[in-house]
Amino acid sequence: MKLVIAIIQPHKLEDVKAELYKADINLITVSEVLGHGRQMGVTEVYRGVKETGNLLRKVRLEIGVNDTFLQPTIDAIIKGARSSEVGDGKIFVLDMKECIRISSGEKGPVAIG
Ligand SMILES: Nc1ncnc2c1ncn2[C@@H]1O[C@H](COP(=O)(O)OP(=O)(O)OP(=O)(O)O)[C@@H](O)[C@H]1O
Ligand SMILES: [Mg+2]
Repeated sequence: MKLVIAIIQPHKLEDVKAELYKADINLITVSEVLGHGRQMGVTEVYRGVKETGNLLRKVRLEIGVNDTFLQPTIDAIIKGARSSEVGDGKIFVLDMKECIRISSGEKGPVAIG
């Protein structure tokens, strides 16, 4: 099991969601966050909303997946979020030790989705 964390441009959220749904990935957590990458928020300002200092508005996605869904998830995020410009975002893949569905007590891959 993996936890995929992706930081994307806010205006790409709907495109990324559409690509995820196409790949049958339907469970997702979305947060509004602030951040900057290696340009330190400077050269990217013309395309982002500068919030405070050099921090730009970004959207953070968290998606827990079984291993077979890892690559399709990555592919869908890239397809929806890439403009080939700086600031398109980043994907982090973490090993996920456990997943527990609170309503049923199910654990492991069956609890993911
Ligand atoms: N190493 C990192 N650790 C934590 N957050 C990061 C990291 N790299 C990027 N981010 C987050 O992802 C957002 C988008 O990153 P961004 O796409 O600008 O990365 P980059 O490394 O600067 O690549 P690029 O040159 O394509 O812009 C940042 O605003 C920040 O919130
Ligand atoms: Mg950058």
